[in-house]
Amino acid sequence: MKTLEQCVVVVAPVGRDAALTSEILAQSGIRARIAPDLIDVARRLGDGTGALLFTEEALLPAHTPVLLASIRAQPAWSDIPIIVMIGNGKADRAPGQSMRQLFGPHGNITLLERPVQFETLLAALHSALRARRRQYDMRDYLAERQQQEEQLRETQKLESIGVLAGGVAHDFNNLLTGILGNASLLLENALPGSFEYQALSEVVKGSERAAELTQNLLAYAGKGRFIIRPLDLSQMVQEIARLVQNLIPKTAELRIEAAAGLPPVEGDSGQLQQIVMNLIINAAEALEERRGGWVHVSTGLFESKAGNEDYLGKPVPPEPYICLTVRDNGTGMDAATRKRVFDPFFTTKFQGRGLGLAAVLGIVRGHRGYLQVESQPGAGTTFRVLLPPGRPPAREAPVSAAATPEAGGKAILVVDDEPSVRSVVQRALSAKGYRVVLAENGQMALDLFNTAPADIGLVLLDLTMPVMGGEETYAHIKRASPELPVILSSGFSGASLAERFAGKGFSGFLQKPFSAAQLVDKIAQCLAPLVR
Ligand SMILES: Nc1ncnc2c1ncn2[C@@H]1O[C@H](COP(=O)(O)OP(=O)(O)O)[C@@H](O)[C@H]1O
Ligand SMILES: [Mg+2]
Repeated sequence: MKTLEQCVVVVAPVGRDAALTSEILAQSGIRARIAPDLIDVARRLGDGTGALLFTEEALLPAHTPVLLASIRAQPAWSDIPIIVMIGNGKADRAPGQSMRQLFGPHGNITLLERPVQFETLLAALHSALRARRRQYDMRDYLAERQQQEEQLRETQKLESIGVLAGGVAHDFNNLLTGILGNASLLLENALPGSFEYQALSEVVKGSERAAELTQNLLAYAGKGRFIIRPLDLSQMVQEIARLVQNLIPKTAELRIEAAAGLPPVEGDSGQLQQIVMNLIINAAEALEERRGGWVHVSTGLFESKAGNEDYLGKPVPPEPYICLTVRDNGTGMDAATRKRVFDPFFTTKFQGRGLGLAAVLGIVRGHRGYLQVESQPGAGTTFRVLLPPGRPPAREAPVSAAATPEAGGKAILVVDDEPSVRSVVQRALSAKGYRVVLAENGQMALDLFNTAPADIGLVLLDLTMPVMGGEETYAHIKRASPELPVILSSGFSGASLAERFAGKGFSGFLQKPFSAAQLVDKIAQCLAPLVR
C-alpha cells in the first residue's frame, strides 16, 4: 500500500469538479483518486491515503458521521489532512463556521473558500502531504521501536531463564547422576520380572524424563551446546525418524524427504537431534489421533530472499541455509498461540511442560539459525528451521565397539566434588572390573596423579569444582601426559566451554546425568584405540 501513501483522494460529486481537479493535480505531479462518496473514503481510510480533498457538496448528512467515525478510529500516529472547498462563490454565506462544528475537535481540516486559486490549492495540498509524510515517519519510528522493545524483552527473558537454568541444572544433574547411576546399576543385577526390577525401571525412566527436562531448560538458555562438528542433517533426520516412529499415532503417516548431498551444518549432534525430536513429537501430538493425519519432515537447501522474516518479523539475511521443515495437518494454532509457542513454560496441553519449543529456540539461536512458523486453526502447522551451512565433514575415525577394554591394569582416576557422583561411578566401574581412584577436587587429583603417573590409564574429570577447577586440572594433566585419555563431564555444559576446550584433544564428553551403561560405554570407547 506504500504507493498510495502520497495519493490524494478527491470527493466532488457535482458536475465535472472531480475530473477537473484530478486533472489539474496530475499536471502538478500529485497522484489523485476520485472516490464516489465519503462512505467509500471511510472504508478505505486505512489503505494509505496522503490527504483528502472534498467539496462541500460531498458532506452529505448521512455520510459525514461514517467518515467521522473512521477518522476517530485512526491509529495514534495518524491525523490525516483534510481540505474542504467551501462556499460556491456567493459571499452571502459563512459555511466555514458550521463546517468546523461538524468536524468538532476531530480532523485536521483546512477550509478553502471558493473560487479557489490554483496556486492556493496546490500550496495547501503540498503542505498537507508534507505533514502526512512526517506522520508516516512517526509511524515507522514507532513500529521500529516496538520491534526493538519486543526483541529486548525476548533477550531479557532468555537471560533470566539462563541464570535460573544454570543454577538449578548443574546441581540437579549431579543429583540425578546419583539417582540414575545407582538405579541403573541395581537394575542390571535385578531379576527381570521381579518387583525390584519393575520398581527400578520406573526410577530409571523417571530420572531420564527429569534429565530431558533439564536438558530442554539448558538448551533454551543456550547453555547446553558442547561439541561442534560438521553434521549431515539428512542422515540425522532419517535416524531419528526410526526412533520416533512409535511415538506417532498408528493412524498417522510419518513421511521423510531427506535431500541427498546437502552441505553439512556445523553443530552439536545431541542438540540438533533434540530439535528434530521436539518438532516431530509436537506435530504428532497436534494430530490428536485424527484419521488421515500426517507429519512430513524434510530437509533441503533454502535460498533466503530479501524480505524473508523469522517468527518475530526479524529479517533473515539473504543467504543459503540448510533447512529442516516439519509440517503437520493437525489442529493448527490461532495467532495468540502462535505468538507464544516459544515462551518457556507455555503449553496448551494437559500434561505439557512447555519447554520443547523453548529448547528448539535456544538451540537454533546457539547455532546462529532462524525459525519460522506458519499455522492456522484447522489448517495444520509448519515449522521451518534455517541453519547456516558449515564446512564439509572430516572423516570420523570409526569407533570399534569392543567389549569392555581393559585399562591395561591401570586405574581410572575419577575427579568430582559431588560425593554421590564419585560413589556411583566407583560402583559402576568396579562392577566391570576397573580399578578406580577417587579425588574430590583438581588439587587432590594432581597430587594423586603426580605420585604415580604411570598407574593412571584414564581420567574422568568434572569441570566445575572448588579448589582447582576442571580446566586447570586438565591443563596440568595434559602437560604431564599428553597421550592420557581424559573424559570431561559436566552437569552444566556451556557454549563457552566448547570454545575453551576446542582443539585441546580431550577424548570425550559425558553429560550428567549418565547411566551406568553410558559411563561404561564412554570409557570403553576412549580406551579402545589404545588397546588395539
Ligand atoms: N505442530 C503443532 N501444532 C499445533 N500446536 C503446536 C505445535 N507445536 C507446538 N504447538 C503449541 O505450542 C505449545 C508449546 O509447545 P512445547 O514448547 O513443545 O511444549 P508442550 O509440547 O510441552 O506443550 C504446545 O502446547 C502447543 O499449543
Ligand atoms: Mg512439546
